Amino acid sequence: MKNLIFNVISAAAFSTVLALAVSPALAEGLADAYQDKFHIGTAISPGSLFDKEVMQLVNAEFNSVTAETNMKLRHLAASQRTYDFNWSDRFVAQGLANKQFVVGHTLIWHRSLPAWFFQQPDGARPSRAQLLASMRQHIYTLVGRYRGQVNGWDVVNEAFNFDGAFRSSPWLDIIGEDYIEHAFAFAHQADPEAELYYNDYGLVNPQKQEAVVALIKRMQKKGIPVHAVGIQGHYSLSYPDLQTLDNTIARFAKLGVKVMISELDVSVLPFPGPEERGEDAEIDSKRAQQLDPYPEQLPDEVMSQFTQRYVDLFCVFLKHHAAISRVTFWGVSDARSWRNDWPLTDRTDYPLLFDRELKPKPVHQELIKLASSYQKVCPLTGNNKDE
Ligand code: G3I
Repeated sequence: MKNLIFNVISAAAFSTVLALAVSPALAEGLADAYQDKFHIGTAISPGSLFDKEVMQLVNAEFNSVTAETNMKLRHLAASQRTYDFNWSDRFVAQGLANKQFVVGHTLIWHRSLPAWFFQQPDGARPSRAQLLASMRQHIYTLVGRYRGQVNGWDVVNEAFNFDGAFRSSPWLDIIGEDYIEHAFAFAHQADPEAELYYNDYGLVNPQKQEAVVALIKRMQKKGIPVHAVGIQGHYSLSYPDLQTLDNTIARFAKLGVKVMISELDVSVLPFPGPEERGEDAEIDSKRAQQLDPYPEQLPDEVMSQFTQRYVDLFCVFLKHHAAISRVTFWGVSDARSWRNDWPLTDRTDYPLLFDRELKPKPVHQELIKLASSYQKVCPLTGNNKDE
């Protein structure tokens, strides 16, 4: 009997010890694992916000949220001169309620623009002064509404081409190159406490990088507040080269701004040639299959490459954790990722950490482990040492 009681007690004690040892790890989400490194964020799509299961996962795994689509001008003010804040109010409120770092995306972009914004009531194109006034009005309206609630804004998004020239847009064409500086100044006036970001893709490209470095230096010289550069991070199993990414992060960090990986995803699909893209492209069925090779599920071998690729990328991010303030995935699960529809529509891609059933992929645990083991696990060659 004594033995039985002892056995029962020791079994209970053992399972308590086991539970203590195991449960924190089991309960740990990504953001918990990285809390002393950087925020781990996700983009919230229009539909995700109303999907209870998705939002439960978001709140367990991420401590930052970005509006994927519905704070863009066309979505807020589609066809009339009044704004519909239903979605964005709910998005901001849920972020605040869950103590997440809330990111507004994006104030000034060349896409998602409603036609009415660039027409006077009589249909004429606005002058520089008129467009500057309506740009200020837009920024004051949105940033002012969420003053003290949205922590950071992607103020200007994707303003340069790959050759480093300013990208053509109604903003550039009507206002001129200083539209960027005005946008940052207006955002700062509307919420002096908010962090303000320049956000772009392809920043590993030397000419584009040069243009953004020059922009940041120009703004710093003029005293215009710019707090961080968002390196979007729409990547693949082979792009970009890790050393180039490492150098890119180091270069921006040296400017004295924070660095954010703002829209991370890793496509596993082949990238079509230029002639295969666009509505008129003619692709026969054999080629169509090659371009969409995993319509049912990802083969184990590709899943392993995918896991390793994220681990390699996070080794670079962790090396620069002192400069990086946030790593945000561009979506929660593969089901709603924009990568299923770009650069070709209707494919089945697998770019995120959670599968179509919202189950974590093996990479999820690997990244959690990496947060505490990276100094042992990540290669420490050349200038690849922890900073
Ligand atoms: O919500 C409507 C739906 O009602 C309608 O039936 C459907 C028909 O096409 O469209 C839905 O809206 C789509 C929206 O995503 C919501 O899923 C828009 O057409 C589509 O244009 C929009 O695409 C977004 C795109 O930006 C343009 O705003 C993508 O989800 C979003 O991932 C993408 O994000 C951009 C970043 O802002 C900037 N960096 C690049 C990144 C990828 O393009």
